[in-house]
Amino acid sequence: MADISSNFLGIKSPNPFWLASAPPTDKAYNVERAFEAGWGGVVWKTLGEEGPPIVNVNGPRYGAIWGADRRLLGLNNIELITDRDLYVNLREIKEVKKKWPDRAMIVSIMVPCEEASWKAILPLVEETGADAIELNFGCPHGMSERGMGASVGQVPEYIEMVARWCKANTRMPVIVKLTPNITDIRYPARAAQTGGADAVSLINTISSITSVNLDNFSPEPSIDGKGSHGGYCGPAVKPIALNMVAEIARDAETANLPISGIGGITTWRDVAEFLALGTGNVQVCTAAMTYGFKIVEEMITGLENWMDDQGHKTLDDVIGRAVPNVTDWQYLNLNYVSKAKIDQDSCIKCGRCHIACEDTSHQAITSLVDGQRQFEVIEEECVGCNLCVNVCPIEDCITMEQLPAGSMDKRTGESVPEIYANWTEHPNNPSSSG
Ligand SMILES: Cc1cc2nc3c(=O)[nH]c(=O)nc-3n(C[C@H](O)[C@H](O)[C@H](O)COP(=O)(O)O)c2cc1C
Ligand code: SF4
Ligand code: SF4
Repeated sequence: MADISSNFLGIKSPNPFWLASAPPTDKAYNVERAFEAGWGGVVWKTLGEEGPPIVNVNGPRYGAIWGADRRLLGLNNIELITDRDLYVNLREIKEVKKKWPDRAMIVSIMVPCEEASWKAILPLVEETGADAIELNFGCPHGMSERGMGASVGQVPEYIEMVARWCKANTRMPVIVKLTPNITDIRYPARAAQTGGADAVSLINTISSITSVNLDNFSPEPSIDGKGSHGGYCGPAVKPIALNMVAEIARDAETANLPISGIGGITTWRDVAEFLALGTGNVQVCTAAMTYGFKIVEEMITGLENWMDDQGHKTLDDVIGRAVPNVTDWQYLNLNYVSKAKIDQDSCIKCGRCHIACEDTSHQAITSLVDGQRQFEVIEEECVGCNLCVNVCPIEDCITMEQLPAGSMDKRTGESVPEIYANWTEHPNNPSSSG
């Protein structure tokens, strides 16, 4: 059986699955049941500075989008950081860590962007015995209007400065949680590293309005007829998170910076993909909020089974394996030619592939053959775009088949070259030397 135990920054946990800082990690009651269910660690719901507790709205705080089967695809929230008393949280963190020493206990913190505020809270957290801190520079709503969260995370100089303060004032490893609400994720990641951070975690939520109520014209969630943007997460954000993780993992400046991957992770497969793109572990929020803590069981057995099937013995066999295969468009092989192929036995003749290709692609799928309803690829027209694969309702009914080198591409009338050739050397490229 594959060994999925995790060692992230020297913090050991029985598996790489941590719950992200959010309602699932808001209190001892939740965290203890999460540990009982099998989660390897948690990032406690973000603590703020000492003083009157944070005030949340008293109406709805979530918006969502769903697939046709009502499965939740994206979740939007306008919740703030913890609204529980700082000292109650600290006491619970200490008790839970003592009771569950083999689980990772990370504490998320967000205090004003002044050194004194960080200096005041760090020893309090350190005293709990927590394994590390995560600096919440990501929250895009509410707290950012108060000069915290994403408003710090959008300024690399601030990230560097606060990371440096934290490293100077605590022995605990420092993880900087990045906001995706930025143009180029490499800059904040580099800043975190320059400030001495031990790792980055990403992504926090994406600024969003999920829907508008067309009766009162208020964005949802509607609070007395008004709405404000919230933070978007769940399966819909996974592609954005994967890309940002890959950007950091393949950036020469941050290639060795440990990454904790977050964003839409729901199944073991999502986990394996994040690990392959270079994350040392993963964090999960929406999936736990949608399906409950026991979802971790599928992640554990699924990852173990896949690793066994593939002959991967430990997480190190998987971590970063896909990073060398992430490249810029200009280096993709233009001599790689593929064509769609339809398996007539599994085709239900719905016609979706034909409509998609006919109306918006390359008119490369028939609808009638000899007067009969029949969907076949016209190789002379097919550019291999795979739109038809993506719109076909039957999995694996349409597949993309690579044309071997030396065979004839009926669309161009030319034989497929053997050599790799990319845009940098293409004769149509004005900057090409070839
Ligand atoms: C209701 C809610 C509250 C959240 N609160 C926090 C928070 O206090 N601190 C924080 O760093 N992230 C917070 N997050 C963001 C999550 O930790 C996570 O980064 C984000 O949801 C993406 O992961 P997911 O797609 O698995 O949900 C919150 C998310 C949700 C849905
Ligand atoms: S791969 Fe693209 S061009 Fe080819 S049949 Fe499918 S949709 Fe049409
Ligand atoms: S979309 Fe798929 S199932 Fe529908 S006609 Fe095309 S190949 Fe057949």
